[in-house]
Amino acid sequence: MSAERKPIGVIGTGYVGLVTAAGFAELGSEVWCVDIDAEKIERLRRGEVPIYEPGLEQILAEHGSRLHFSTDLGEALEHARMLFVAVGTPPTYSGDADLSAVHAVVDALPPSNEHALVMKSTVPCGTGASIQRIFRERGKEGMAYVSCPEFLKEGSALKDFRRPDRVVVGDNGDWAGDAVIGLYAPLEAPLVRTDVASAEMIKLAANAFLATKISFINEIANVCEETGADVIEVARGVGLDDRIGPKFLQAGIGYGGSCFTKDVSALKLLAANSGYHFQLLNAVTEVNELQKRRVISKLQRHVGDLAGKRIAMLGLAFKPETDDMRGASSLVLAGRLLAEGAIVSTYDPVAEHEARTLMPQLNYCDAALEAVTEADAVVLVTEWREFLELDWNEVAEAMSGALVVDGRNALDAAAVRAAGLLYEGIGRR
Ligand code: UGA
Repeated sequence: MSAERKPIGVIGTGYVGLVTAAGFAELGSEVWCVDIDAEKIERLRRGEVPIYEPGLEQILAEHGSRLHFSTDLGEALEHARMLFVAVGTPPTYSGDADLSAVHAVVDALPPSNEHALVMKSTVPCGTGASIQRIFRERGKEGMAYVSCPEFLKEGSALKDFRRPDRVVVGDNGDWAGDAVIGLYAPLEAPLVRTDVASAEMIKLAANAFLATKISFINEIANVCEETGADVIEVARGVGLDDRIGPKFLQAGIGYGGSCFTKDVSALKLLAANSGYHFQLLNAVTEVNELQKRRVISKLQRHVGDLAGKRIAMLGLAFKPETDDMRGASSLVLAGRLLAEGAIVSTYDPVAEHEARTLMPQLNYCDAALEAVTEADAVVLVTEWREFLELDWNEVAEAMSGALVVDGRNALDAAAVRAAGLLYEGIGRR
């Protein structure tokens, strides 16, 4: 790949920032990464990767010579014209996006006719316009602005960077938009070049639609349970319709992660703040919250009062291949189980460290078989591969009860049943 590629700055070294930095370094850019967290920068300089993301450590090591880490924004400004902003925009208490980290960057940027702020962080529609107004008010109108939302999924983030479904560039038709498009050109992805507000809305609408799809199939699953249909068959039959598509029709115990919850809420409030009541998204959120709790009634139906019962939770992270616990369904499930007086043992291949601080009351085990030992019931919470490959005869022997609740519809029901266990999925016959 060309060594002539333009250098870039990346401000914020979380999931999005690090993957963006690694991806562009792989494409041949020198990348100047900046973060206010000095300890994190020190770790990155030592080659330590603060998050678990498959392949990230390797690619950061391979292209380490092109990656520079600093707490000083000045270094990025000196070496790069395009500054990708990938700082956190968590929800505030009101559910709106907290833009304080974004504004700290905007404040820190000096006046310049040579630089562009390229927004990767997910921000409400209208943020680009307000930042450009701030630039004008503070004599920084020379600073170009581009919205370039990120669509990567945790756990497959590098793959998503290398082969994006599309690249969205929202800009004012100037050099900065052209430059961002040039940076992504080698990926040969479909390009959507549009205005800033539309790019911001594309990101929120995409996440809100995916969340809607999941809540929809979860409600179908719940109706399947009442009517004797099987949601896996239903999803297959529905998803083969080209207009619907097979992805994100996996029923389960609700979506987790930081993005869907945050972006659904941000979009709902963005609409409300503009005087529009986005009714559909209220239902999407409510369905998801209730879905996380449905496992409790399934357990109660089979094992009765949960007080004193031993329940094993297999997996904790909000999805496989990540240690991210933000918004994980396991948090609600464990909280409810403990409130009912159950004794909860658990095992997750990578999320234990994150989980321990959030849920110190659980019994953390070193392996799945240890977690299920003496359990009255087992709940699959996160579909890590190693759980799908469990020997169910061994599980049956270790358990004291017989119930397996497949919270992700990911297990081989026949294999579970063949071991003499009682299989209960979500929306399964
Ligand atoms: C999501 C989007 O998929 C990305 O495109 C987006 O860039 C990202 O948010 C973001 O805004 O940063 P992510 O949160 O990493 O990505 O994870 P997903 O793979 O979308 O899964 C989210 C949750 O939905 C998980 O808990 C997963 O188990 C659940 N899910 C997913 C289902 O319950 N059913 C499905 O069919 C698919």
